[in-house]
Amino acid sequence: MATFGERIANFFGGNDTQTQEGLKNLFITELKDIYYAEKQAVDALGEQADASTTNEVRNAFLQHQEETRNQVARLEQVFSSIGVDVEEGSCDAIDGLIDDAQRSVSNTDSGSLTRDAGLIIAGQKIEHHEIAAYGSVATLARVLGYQQAVGLLEQTLAEEKNADKKLTTLAESFVNSRAAGESDDDSNQDAGSMVNPDGTRYDHPTGNVIG
Ligand SMILES: [Fe+2]
Repeated sequence: MATFGERIANFFGGNDTQTQEGLKNLFITELKDIYYAEKQAVDALGEQADASTTNEVRNAFLQHQEETRNQVARLEQVFSSIGVDVEEGSCDAIDGLIDDAQRSVSNTDSGSLTRDAGLIIAGQKIEHHEIAAYGSVATLARVLGYQQAVGLLEQTLAEEKNADKKLTTLAESFVNSRAAGESDDDSNQDAGSMVNPDGTRYDHPTGNVIG
């Protein structure tokens, strides 16, 4: 089956000058928007790390903040590879997702694992937005024949998918089941141990859980 990019290229014939120009403008607009979004994400990831309860979640946000700084630099390479000045666009979606993350922090207790569960959920919503955005711009770059840009954008797309997967692993390994325990007001019991999905407990690897 033809890929989405091939279908776009086939649909438009690939040699319609007006369409090529339209797709190029769309690509540049989308590029500016994800550039803006990533710059907002760098700051938000720092705030999310500060708000985290456990070292595992904090480190996940800090590692991805570093990765995101590289992604910003990579986007600047994409701009330069197509001879366009680096410029920030706008993105209501990322603004809203970051607002949601801040609201989740306000609605949860500092030092609780419910806080970490909320941060992971908010973080994954942001990653899913970025995955959609990078998938789209990589497809447009391919259709437009910007091979260098395709390579750079696909590198970032893979990192975003990996960041999302890491958050899923974190959530599944301990946060959500332990947060359920907190709501039963048993957070002082077995301090330093965690709950497996099957309800059994195990020692927390770093013993840094505030409970
Ligand atoms: Fe990301």
